[in-house]
Amino acid sequence: MSRNLIFFGPPGAGKGTQAKRLMEDHSIPQISTGDILRANRSQGTELGRKAQGFMDNGKLVPDNLIIDMVDDRFGQGDCDNGWILDGFPRTVPQAVALDGLLNRRDAGVDRVVLLKVPDDDIVDRITGRRVCRTCGAPYHVTFKPPAVDGVCDADGGEVYQRADDTEEKVRVRLDEYAHNTAPVAAYFGQRGIVREIDGTGEIDEVYGRLVAVLE
Ligand code: AP5
Repeated sequence: MSRNLIFFGPPGAGKGTQAKRLMEDHSIPQISTGDILRANRSQGTELGRKAQGFMDNGKLVPDNLIIDMVDDRFGQGDCDNGWILDGFPRTVPQAVALDGLLNRRDAGVDRVVLLKVPDDDIVDRITGRRVCRTCGAPYHVTFKPPAVDGVCDADGGEVYQRADDTEEKVRVRLDEYAHNTAPVAAYFGQRGIVREIDGTGEIDEVYGRLVAVLE
């Protein structure tokens, strides 16, 4: 199975949901730039303070902050047997920087999986999303509710709604995706490593399609 992976797609496409499952099944660490930024915010770090305004308005955080953050994360020592990048790279300069930091580590990207979901479904998914404040497990009020309302099944943490998960902010995030992030697929497409999968349907069905393109 391919193990150096980028999960790509619009906000709410299911990148985090599928990455967490693959991480559990195959012990491949998920590197979610959104989760790392949110952890920095809750810890009140300088990076968290710098990122806050961009995130709350649905805008991308500046490339230099993100690239340094990912470089640090790769240096943590658990990525020798693969990784799942979730939410990175999100601009062509981030993709170029990723190539540079992987070259320094004699590594490369095996597969880019592009999850395709129509915009109307995305708005439903994101406005209904709830997330565990401690472990980041994603839920949905209709499609994947926790067993006890407001309580994470995995660790009992508080399940809350992200500040950027309103319809207004989703529209801004979709616009950012179209203008800045979608071109990244063409950047990797030239290498023949991009696989598009249908991200609609049950979470299990999408997972089956995902595993099939990684074999
Ligand atoms: P980030 O946290 O990365 O958000 P995102 O890309 O907008 O992606 P999401 O987390 O919203 O969606 P997802 O695809 O993971 O979907 P999920 O699995 O949760 O980024 C947030 C912000 O941080 C950005 O706006 C930006 O400011 C900043 N940032 C982060 N990375 C950056 C970078 N590289 N550069 C610059 N800025 C950066 O699923 C969504 C919902 O749908 C859930 O409720 C889930 O339960 C449900 N669901 C999933 N699959 C299905 C299914 N098959 N059927 C029904 N429901 C489903």
